[in-house]
Amino acid sequence: MTDYQRPTVSIIGAGNVGEHVANILAIKGLANIKMFDLPRKTEDKVFEVVKGKALDIKQMATSLHSDVEVEGFSVSPEGEGYEPLEGSDIVVVTAGFPRRPGMSRDDLLSKNVGIIKTVSENIAKYAPNAIVIVVSNPVDVMAYAAYKFTGFPKNRVLGMAGVLDTARFKSFLSQELGVSVRNINAYVIGGHGDDMVPLLSVSSVAGVPLTKALPEDKLNEIVERTKFGGGEIVNLMGTSAYHAPGSSTAYMVEAILQDRKEIMPCSVYLEGDDARFYEAEDVFVGVPVKLGRDGIEEVVKLDMTDEERQMWRKSVSSVKSGIERIKELGLI
Ligand code: LAC
Repeated sequence: MTDYQRPTVSIIGAGNVGEHVANILAIKGLANIKMFDLPRKTEDKVFEVVKGKALDIKQMATSLHSDVEVEGFSVSPEGEGYEPLEGSDIVVVTAGFPRRPGMSRDDLLSKNVGIIKTVSENIAKYAPNAIVIVVSNPVDVMAYAAYKFTGFPKNRVLGMAGVLDTARFKSFLSQELGVSVRNINAYVIGGHGDDMVPLLSVSSVAGVPLTKALPEDKLNEIVERTKFGGGEIVNLMGTSAYHAPGSSTAYMVEAILQDRKEIMPCSVYLEGDDARFYEAEDVFVGVPVKLGRDGIEEVVKLDMTDEERQMWRKSVSSVKSGIERIKELGLI
């Protein structure tokens, strides 16, 4: 028997989303996990929270008879402590600030681009062959920044959003239709924001087009709820969602590690023919891609109706303005 070598997934940022990615990977026994985060300092004590979370997740895995290794590492804001990234097959980046009261979008952009820069430089240094999945928000802009700062080829940098937005869409649809989520085939593409595009023309329930399965007003209601799906949860919890963002990221990790060639919407850099088809040059935006061991192995060109095309263009241009802004601010 040849030696089985379990892959290694590193997670930078062990907040709610990061720890839930780790949690699912550990439960499924998919990879050894390394978690990285800053220590939390109080007046008289330094808490190495990431090490505690890693121990807890390792012990949870053990209780479920999963043999994965889980380790936590404290890093500094200046970028020290990332040496253990070495050997990572995939690096998931969830590090970043959430928007706080009184903070402008530009403040948030500049803080988070700075974090992505530090993290990306360390990934490039210690894990130059890894595939990078960016989760930090605004995700399309942060994935663009990670692509630039790592200098990695475009097949190895992607942003997580479409899988989550599609899961929300499918969950509302299955509840409304009283049909298993397995019978629903749907895509949400575009940027991860209010302008995302649930593609009704190619979505179906067991082969029946969505537009025939539900009355128009119901469908519109579900589309609107999907677009603001993240905000609905923030309003209820006072903080961002993390179970579905965590599981959506883990689902992408699994497709890559298992070389599954599964097609799902991810935020990616488009070039050549793909950029022309999607009218999206020098931008990261959500389109259906085939995920396998080489990361993004193919971009799928989905036809859109004229109305969807218009929504698509609007979504691309709102991501583009975020990217222009980080350029204007001299952050990239
Ligand atoms: C959301 C955050 C993760 O949509 O962007 O819940």
